[in-house]
Amino acid sequence: MSIRRLPPELINRIAAGEVVERPASALKELVENSLDAGASEVAVRLHAGGLELIEVSDDGSGMDPDEMRLALERHATSKLPSDAIDRVTSFGFRGEALPSIASVSHLTLESRLRSADGWRIEVDHSATIGEGPAALPPGTRIKVERLFDKVPARRKFLRSPRAEYAACLDAVKRLAMARSDIGFSLDHDGRRILTLRPTEAPARVAELLAHELDRHGIGIDCERDGMRLTGVISLPTFNRGVADQQYLFVNSRPVKDRLLVGALRGAYRDLIARDRHPIAALFLDVPLEDVDVNVHPAKTEVRFRDPTAVRGLIVGGLRHALDEESQRSVAHEQAAAPVMWTTSAMYDAALNRQPSPSPAPAFAQMATVAEAQRLFDEAPAARAEPAVEPVPTFPLGVARGQVAATYIVAEAEDGLVIVDQHAAHERLVLERMRAMREGENVARQALLMPEVVEMDEPDCDRLEGAASELGGMGLEVERFGPTAILVRAVPAALGKTDVPGLLSDLAAEIAELGGPLSLRDKLDHVAATIACHGSVRAGRTLSVAEMNALLREMEVTPRSGQCNHGRPTWVKLGHAEIEKLFGRK
Ligand SMILES: Nc1ncnc2c1ncn2[C@@H]1O[C@H](COP(=O)(O)OP(=O)(O)OP(=O)(O)O)[C@@H](O)[C@H]1O
Ligand SMILES: [Mg+2]
Repeated sequence: MSIRRLPPELINRIAAGEVVERPASALKELVENSLDAGASEVAVRLHAGGLELIEVSDDGSGMDPDEMRLALERHATSKLPSDAIDRVTSFGFRGEALPSIASVSHLTLESRLRSADGWRIEVDHSATIGEGPAALPPGTRIKVERLFDKVPARRKFLRSPRAEYAACLDAVKRLAMARSDIGFSLDHDGRRILTLRPTEAPARVAELLAHELDRHGIGIDCERDGMRLTGVISLPTFNRGVADQQYLFVNSRPVKDRLLVGALRGAYRDLIARDRHPIAALFLDVPLEDVDVNVHPAKTEVRFRDPTAVRGLIVGGLRHALDEESQRSVAHEQAAAPVMWTTSAMYDAALNRQPSPSPAPAFAQMATVAEAQRLFDEAPAARAEPAVEPVPTFPLGVARGQVAATYIVAEAEDGLVIVDQHAAHERLVLERMRAMREGENVARQALLMPEVVEMDEPDCDRLEGAASELGGMGLEVERFGPTAILVRAVPAALGKTDVPGLLSDLAAEIAELGGPLSLRDKLDHVAATIACHGSVRAGRTLSVAEMNALLREMEVTPRSGQCNHGRPTWVKLGHAEIEKLFGRK
């Protein structure tokens, strides 16, 4: 075996493998350098998603020619004056971004100090190919052309210019949110995409996030143990199929940290379906000594000294805000419900027309058209109650009947309320179980004859392993041979239930949650699965008394405005909207 020192070009190429994954990561490094250089304006130009050209210009400190040469060398940085790597506040500190990028592209670095003339250095795949004077305003301009052109192994993994452009846009958005005090512009293929003036963080976030968050967002501001969390999150009913609009920052550094993403998820547990994702921009500020940013070459992950405290702050803070919002909405007007119900869209759907181009946001129309269509399509299994009694002032009104054996129609003082009975009941069962669990007193119902359920061995192992937690929720299970489970009692809140179905769902649930979730999170997921089994199904005819009981319970139950999957459990059609439907207004 012969050991040799690698040549610098190769070392840079290897580093580039970690730091420069695609155009967006090179772009991120360049913009971070501009911000570290004290720029107040950063201009980005891209061609073909950054594959042909990434150019970043700033009005920051600039460099003299010697500094420029040094900047292109590995492990050369101006950012750790006292070698205090545990107290870094700059984006960069590793001194490897520029040489890494220069090793896999054609890079032109131009820079000018305030008091001097400009200089230019051109580098092709680590080799300096030219130097000379350059004309530019004070600051720095870096051009990266033909990234990975000579690195076929990398090129293979690049996506289309469109996809690369999307990733670049995302990188710029993240940094622009992190530093709202800086002006940014972005051009792609000669077209101006973004112009952002310096402003405050909330205004910057509002400019860059889904604008629907004005109405579907909740502001966050909480503090604990010297840490502070601020930002905005979406109501559970306003969610997305992909987690692409989650912007997380630690001490102003954009991160994609698993702990933080997990905590965000945890806060929405059972408010949102597992394949749906909230929108969020969250800024976490922690004392510098409590976080290590030097754990990932691209600096997108961090390590906290006390991860449990961080998780606690995020889950606790967001949950509190979500709960407050939902309490408010049940007592008065559900924030999301009125938009879910858009009169024009419903009217168009009923008449089988294209929706008029009027105000409803696309999301509201989709939900409404589908629901309305269903009301009209299904055979009317409605029963009516004569509206003789005066309407008492219950927020969700008095049940008047049931439609399609699925929806309860109620009359409230200010309009017509439609409730999805299954979704609502599922939520109530979950909240009941949770309340009981919190009081450590889950009512259980012993089975007259213990039930033996045959299951495969891994599933039996899973249930056996969770037996004591399940017992705490009123579900008593015991191992009964290698491939069977004996069930002695079920939670009373469930009523009569399909025990084998419940067990197999639970086993699947436990298998899926096997990872790093806390016990509490797991219990909540399991409780949600149990709740679904205990709920009145769509399609069951309810008596008026049953319907009213359900409405009254919803009014006093926290979070009852959304089902366990984040859809609304009820919508209200106000008198004014009904009048509009009939052209009276
Ligand atoms: N736009 C810029 N304006 C002024 N100086 C710059 C600029 N870009 C880079 N530099 C200088 O070049 C040095 C090297 O940059 P490079 O990005 O390679 O390393 P870094 O930012 O120090 O650390 P990291 O590798 O973590 O980003 C920086 O420390 C800085 O002094
Ligand atoms: Mg850098």
